[in-house]
Amino acid sequence: MVIYHLSTECYPIAKVGGLADVVGALPKYQNKIKGIDAKVVMPWYNKPFVHEHEFEVVFDGFIHQGSNMLQVQVMKEKTNVLGFELYMVKIPGLLDRDNPYGYQDESFQFLAFQQAILHWLCAMELKPDVLHCHDYHTGLVPFMVEHCPEFSFLQGVKTIGTIHNGEYQGMMNWNMANYMPSFDAYKWGLMDWNGFMNPLASMIKCSHAFTTVSEGYLEELFISFRGLESLVRQEFGKAYGIINGIDAEVWNPETDPMLDFNFNSKNAVAQKKKNKEKLCKEYGLNPKLPLFAFIGRFATEKGADLLPDVVWKSIKQSYGALNIMILGSGNTYIENKLKEYDYTYTNFALDLGYKEHLSHKIYASADFLLMPSRVEPCGLNQMYSMRYGTVPVVRYTGGLKDTVEDISTGGAGLNFTYPGVDDIVHAMNRAIGIYNQKGMMKELIHANMNFDFAWEKSAEKYIALYNS
Ligand code: ADP
Ligand code: GLC
Repeated sequence: MVIYHLSTECYPIAKVGGLADVVGALPKYQNKIKGIDAKVVMPWYNKPFVHEHEFEVVFDGFIHQGSNMLQVQVMKEKTNVLGFELYMVKIPGLLDRDNPYGYQDESFQFLAFQQAILHWLCAMELKPDVLHCHDYHTGLVPFMVEHCPEFSFLQGVKTIGTIHNGEYQGMMNWNMANYMPSFDAYKWGLMDWNGFMNPLASMIKCSHAFTTVSEGYLEELFISFRGLESLVRQEFGKAYGIINGIDAEVWNPETDPMLDFNFNSKNAVAQKKKNKEKLCKEYGLNPKLPLFAFIGRFATEKGADLLPDVVWKSIKQSYGALNIMILGSGNTYIENKLKEYDYTYTNFALDLGYKEHLSHKIYASADFLLMPSRVEPCGLNQMYSMRYGTVPVVRYTGGLKDTVEDISTGGAGLNFTYPGVDDIVHAMNRAIGIYNQKGMMKELIHANMNFDFAWEKSAEKYIALYNS
């Protein structure tokens, strides 16, 4: 079975968040299953990976976008170094940029990316079996495959859509339809939601099946989905929740080259302590105190707007008996407020930016990982932290609900229900209580490290879905 994963991110080439981690790992694990040939197609960005690896041109052509003619090249990485065939779509001037997102003309970018992929696939002798679309950036592919005559060769090819984050739907004004490959006008409703072109809605309507990255998140979408609730209810017969796994080869504390002191479950307590001491020294924190960390995008869905108040309140309430470290970037108001506290409190350390190495060090060093998410479709941070023996303190929502159980009911993490400062600080106080009980932390470190979040099970579930 030949599967193409279509995505704008893929680790380690271009990563903004968890989407990259999933697309960089899932195909690799699918390829371990007999008879499966999973590949990845993504845009060609100006990233170090493309300069450090050898590529060959496998397709050279043109697409039309409105009255513009765009040159398209599909480049294949020659050695399958990532454990799958990697194809990168190069559109000079439109896709070959430094970053996946953040450009004014992103609607043009994503439309051209999707059109180019299908144009290339139509030039092949054999059709693929499955096109697996990830998030709204490739959400129009199911419509294009079935309803654009230009791609009639692909008609009938099965399409699966995975919703990693329903907060972003890619809504466009209908005048963007002029830049679509041609389609019968009466089919417009398959792309419409409330008077806008909505790629995510179209993915739900037109794919053969769609998935969310946890069961808990799927249940929530029926109630709250930025306006798409009734659509997901109507299409529930083809909806599946499949939890993400983690790439146990990349995220292995025993071999992770980004750590100062590697460890396994036998020597975790001592080695984690060394990691923590080093990190605390670097950031001027007291290694004797419990270390709480937050890693992520400063967005309201992550509850990042609550962080400044959490910092001052938890430090004040505990009389400075804890450390907090935050790694991330995003909303400038949050960044500035946190910068201010970084100057004010010696118990608080801030590192602004995206730093893959530092994130690994923090997962290995912290005692607790904070995730006050308002919305969390799956969340990978909590799984990474658990694998690195760090206790997750999470809001009970979406994928966090499915992966972290509170110690009061036999789990190895801490949950809180409401995404508010008081509830978070209360959970942190519970955590400090645990930290101060002899032997308890040790038990929790081991219990967390023993969880199995390997991709194998979920990779099988996707294959079963393709087969169905
Ligand atoms: P999301 O995709 O919504 O941001 P996930 O929990 O699925 O959330 O994945 C986030 C991924 O991005 C994790 O691999 C996490 O370690 C990483 N990450 C987030 N922010 C940073 C940062 N500032 N520096 C390094 N890695 C980060
Ligand atoms: C999204 C979600 C996150 C999920 C990731 C990978 O970015 O916000 O919860 O883990 O996709 O599926």
